[in-house]
Amino acid sequence: MPSQEVEEIKQDIWQRYLEKTRKSKELTEKAQKFLPGGDTRSIAFYTPYPFFAVKGQGCYLYDADGNEYLDFVNNMTSLIHGHAHPQIMDAIRRQTEKGITHGVPVEAQHKLAELICKRVPSIESIRFGNSGSEATMFCMRAARAFTGKQGFLKMDGGYHGSHDFVQVNTMPDMISEDLPQAKATRGVPVCTEKDIFLTPFNDLNTAERVLKDNRDKIAAIIMEPMLGAGGGVPPQEGYLQGMRALADRYGVLLIFDEVISFRVHEGGLQAMADVKPDLTAFGKIIGGGFPIGAFGGRKDIMEMFDPNKSDSIAHSGTFSGNAVTMAAGIANLEIYPKKEVERINALGKRLTDGFNKAFEKVGIPGGTRGIGSLAAIAFTDKELSNSKDVILSMIPSFELMQYLHLEMLNQGVFFLHRGMFTVSTPMAETEIDICVETFEQSLELLKPLAAEIQHQ
Ligand SMILES: Cc1ncc(COP(=O)(O)O)c(C=O)c1O
Repeated sequence: MPSQEVEEIKQDIWQRYLEKTRKSKELTEKAQKFLPGGDTRSIAFYTPYPFFAVKGQGCYLYDADGNEYLDFVNNMTSLIHGHAHPQIMDAIRRQTEKGITHGVPVEAQHKLAELICKRVPSIESIRFGNSGSEATMFCMRAARAFTGKQGFLKMDGGYHGSHDFVQVNTMPDMISEDLPQAKATRGVPVCTEKDIFLTPFNDLNTAERVLKDNRDKIAAIIMEPMLGAGGGVPPQEGYLQGMRALADRYGVLLIFDEVISFRVHEGGLQAMADVKPDLTAFGKIIGGGFPIGAFGGRKDIMEMFDPNKSDSIAHSGTFSGNAVTMAAGIANLEIYPKKEVERINALGKRLTDGFNKAFEKVGIPGGTRGIGSLAAIAFTDKELSNSKDVILSMIPSFELMQYLHLEMLNQGVFFLHRGMFTVSTPMAETEIDICVETFEQSLELLKPLAAEIQHQ
C-alpha cells in the first residue's frame, strides 16, 4: 500500500500536468475518434496523454496551451539542430520553389551521398530511402543476396525499425536461462523466428557460440554499435572489434545500424571505435528533419543495386532521394562539422555528470549511460551491459520514471519517457544546467516514492 504522502505527491504531479495541458487533453479526445490512441506513433505515447505541439523553435517546443518545453527528445534523436534551424529552412525554401520530387535524379542526391561517403570510411557507395526501417531492411536484403544465406544474428532486445525480420525480440527474452529464444512481436509472421538468431549485446562468447553452430545459415550480424532504443547501452572495450573479428572468422557480413549513433562522431560510432562494418544503415539526422533512410558500404555489395546489371536487386520508393530531403540533408551535415560534434558531445558529458551528481546528492540510487550527445538514465547504480539488464532495472522503477517524466514536463523539460535525453546544437551549457537543475528538483520531490520502491 502506498503511503498517504506518496499518494499526495503523485496526485499533485498528475493534477498539475492535467491543468497545464487542458487543450492537449481536448485535442487528444478529438484525435481518438479518428486515430487509435489519438496519434500515429506508439513511441510518442505516454500516460495520461502527450502534449500537442504547435511550434518548435531552436531547442524549444511550444504546445497547444502555450507552454514552452526545453526539448531533449528532438523527434527521437533525429533533430540534431533542433527545430526550424535557419540554414536548413533556407535550403528547404529554395528547393521547394523548384519542386519537391521529380521522378528523375537530382544533383543534390549525389552531393549528399558524397558528403556521407567522405565522412564514413566504410561507405564506398550508398542509396537513399525514406526511413531507418527501409535502410535496415535493404542492408539485410543485400546481405542475403550477397551471401546466399537467409539468417541473421541480432542483439536480444535490439531495435532496427518496423519491418518483419527485425520485429523479433525487440524486447529481450526474460525467461530462457541459456540462449535467448526468437519471438516475433504481435502480428509479425512467426516464420521470421526461424531466421533470427540471438545474442545479448556486449557478449562475445555467446555471439561466437551461435555463429560457430550456424555459420552456414547466417548471412550477417545486424547490430547497433551501441544499443540505442534498446537502452542506450555503450559497447564495452573491445566488443565491436571482437564482433568484426567474429564476422570474419565465421564468414558472415557485419551490418551496423547507425540510425541513432551516427551523430556521436563525424564518421559515426564506427569511426569512433575504428571498426569497419560491411554495410551500414543510416536515418534520423541525415535528412535535416525530413523522413530519410540510407544504406551503404562495400562497393562489391552495393553494386548489386546497379540496374545496369541483369540480375540487380530492385530498390525503389516513390519519395526516395526527393530533392527537398536531399537539400535539407546537405544543409544539415554542412552545419555539423567535427567541431560541432565535439561541442555537443561535451554538453552530453556535462549532462551525464550532472545527472549522476544529482542522484548522489538526493540519495536515490541511479546512473546515467550514454555516448556523446546521447544520455539515458536508470534508477540503479549497477552497470547495465545489455537490453535484459535495462529492462530488469526498469521494471521496479516504472512508476518512478513515469512521475519523473511528468514532473519534468510540469517544470518545462521534455525527455523521452523511457529515460533518454538527446542534446541538440542550439543548446549551450545554460540549457544543460537548467535540465540538470530540474532533474535534481524533481528527484527531490520524488524521494518518498523512490524510498518506497527500494523497500519493496
Ligand atoms: C537503431 C534504429 N534503427 C532503425 C530505426 C527505424 O527508423 P525509422 O523510424 O526511421 O523507420 C530506428 C528508429 O528509432 C532506430 O532507433
